[in-house]
Amino acid sequence: MKGIRMKTVRFGIIGCGLMGREFASAAARWCHLADIDVQPEIVAICDTNKSLAEWFSKNFTSVKQVTADYRELLANPDVEAVYIAVPHNLHQEFYCAALEAGKDLMGEKPFGIDKAACDAILACIKKHPERFVRCSSEFPFAPALQRIGKMIEKKVFGTILEVNSGFLHSSDMDPDKPINWKRMIEFNGEYGVMGDLGLHACHMFLRAGWYPVNVRAILSNVVKERPDGKGGKAPCKTWDNASLFCETQEPNSPDTFPMTIKTQRIAPGQKNTWYFEVFGTKVSARFSTKNINSLEVMEYTGGEQAWEIIDMGHETTYKSITGGIFEFGFSDAILQMWAAFVYEREHRRLPKKFAGCIRPEEVAFTHKLFTAALESNKNRSTVALNS
Ligand SMILES: NC(=O)c1ccc[n+]([C@@H]2O[C@H](COP(=O)([O-])OP(=O)(O)OC[C@H]3O[C@@H](n4cnc5c(N)ncnc54)[C@H](O)[C@@H]3O)[C@@H](O)[C@H]2O)c1
Repeated sequence: MKGIRMKTVRFGIIGCGLMGREFASAAARWCHLADIDVQPEIVAICDTNKSLAEWFSKNFTSVKQVTADYRELLANPDVEAVYIAVPHNLHQEFYCAALEAGKDLMGEKPFGIDKAACDAILACIKKHPERFVRCSSEFPFAPALQRIGKMIEKKVFGTILEVNSGFLHSSDMDPDKPINWKRMIEFNGEYGVMGDLGLHACHMFLRAGWYPVNVRAILSNVVKERPDGKGGKAPCKTWDNASLFCETQEPNSPDTFPMTIKTQRIAPGQKNTWYFEVFGTKVSARFSTKNINSLEVMEYTGGEQAWEIIDMGHETTYKSITGGIFEFGFSDAILQMWAAFVYEREHRRLPKKFAGCIRPEEVAFTHKLFTAALESNKNRSTVALNS
């Protein structure tokens, strides 16, 4: 970083749980990035669970404000931008309050518990066009996905035959796992697993401009009650698994192709598998986080059909000090995503089309899709998505 003048963005974190700490940890190892000219500094934190503050105080001398009231953090003039990572039922209130308070915002998915909440957030954004707002979604920053993004931009696939995108967990395989807010409709929302994992599975195809024109969804609630953690049982009404079958179009093309979007919390054999596959008449490509270092590509030129496996190493868009041959991981994706947020906020452009955080209008489409999926599942029908 020698020679680069580093600008600082002062951040407040609201919600210091799993994801709040991931951001803080990424900020703490910013020196890992080789040539970025802007860095986040955590100056304020807010969580109603006071015990979480200790970890921050121990590790971040930059934190000057610790509060349990998000309004106090938003009133802090030293805070320029906020990362809000709280349960879904709080997104609308907190995100809108942040924009009203003049803060830039990295929100968490699903960006509102339902479509009405997302619409309200989008209306607040429209009221404050000067604010920089993005939504967190880290998987497309994996080197293989950045490469697939480039292939999409170069239109190497020929006629697209099929796209499959998904995010599969086994975090709820155990029916004796006690319930938490992510399995409760009042905190997680009607979308269930789609609200939890769905946006991750949509990021790549939305950035490609492959917007589905209709959807047929099959949703499953496999485990209908769970231990409540107090010796009793609690109803578990959220959808565990969702399979969406869509007809999709490339921009300006009259032809459609099939696309599947799967999000599952009960997926045998899958711990945290995010995958993306594009099959085309000339080239096909597929990637799964199960094999984080491998990009599979197949070119069809009339002869044998042979998949080529490319070891991706550390080919990151935002350069890092890690040697090019070394593998990439989840916390690297988080670091890259935050680099994208602060870079785009500062420069109002991206180094590459696929190297940006998901935009509010892209998030808004996911709400349209998931709301249509709920209707499709209820009526066992195909629901059109054209506006
Ligand atoms: N990008 C990703 O990969 C990813 C992964 C997991 C979760 N998420 C999203 O991040 C968000 C948070 O999820 P998480 O896994 O970090 O949850 P979490 O339960 O670990 O953390 C949420 C935190 O919010 C705090 N909180 C609750 N009410 C509050 C209030 N009124 N004021 C201040 N703090 C409050 C809780 O005490 C908790 O510490 C959700 O929107 C979730 O969908 C994103």
